[in-house]
Formats: sequence, C-alpha cells, structure tokens
Amino acid sequence: MSLLQWKPGYSVGVESMDDEHREMIDLINDIYEKLESDPDADQVEQCLGEIFSTISMHFALEERLMRKSNYAEYQAHKDNHEDLLDQVRDLMDDFAADTATGATRLEQGLSDWFAGHFSTFDARLHGELGD
Ligand SMILES: [Fe+2]
Ligand SMILES: [Fe+2]
Repeated sequence: MSLLQWKPGYSVGVESMDDEHREMIDLINDIYEKLESDPDADQVEQCLGEIFSTISMHFALEERLMRKSNYAEYQAHKDNHEDLLDQVRDLMDDFAADTATGATRLEQGLSDWFAGHFSTFDARLHGELGD
C-alpha cells in the first residue's frame, strides 16, 4: 500500500511543478513498498540517495525562482525546505542504524510535511510567480 497519496489540494496550478511533486511522492512510496520485501541495506541506501538528490534538485529550482524574483517569503520557504532535508538525513541515519526505526520515521515524519508544504508555501509561490 502507498504511504502518501496525491490529492487535488496539493496542486499548485503549474503542471511541471505538480509533476515534480508527484515524482517526490512516488519515490517515497517506492521505498515504503520495497521495505515490505525486506530489502538489503545497500538497496535502502540507494533509494534514499535518489530521494535526497531528487528533492534537493527540486528545492534548488524553487529557490532559484524565488531569488530571481526577489520573492518576499524566500527565507521562510527555504527554511521549510531545509527542515525536510534534515528529516531525510535523519531518515538515512535511522535506516543505517536499524531498518525498523527508519520505517517508523518514514511513516510518521514525512506525510505532514508534504501535505503542509505543497498546499501552503508552494501554492503561494507558484500562484504568485506563475511558474
Ligand atoms: Fe517548496
Ligand atoms: Fe515544491
């Protein structure tokens, strides 16, 4: 079963950004589903690495857009991005120590962030900039 579900309320009104957000959700769901088949530590590490780099690139793109436009909410938005990257780093540490601990953090930690960020920070950003 998927951990995260795309919801219409997540849409920021820009198709390319919605696609990137869906890709982030898909990657989180992929690792969640893989955990059910008891993957080895290398597979988990590889998936988490892919998640981290995909999310980092997406955040870097949004932060470039914000800087280019002197976007007023830049710092708070960037701080919220950093918060998720910290959570993913913690997730990597947890998985390295113990798969069960990592799985618990994955289930509990990330859903709220995605639901909150897309429909607030990202909706305001892409609503104002139009891209
Ligand atoms: Fe964002
Ligand atoms: Fe975003």
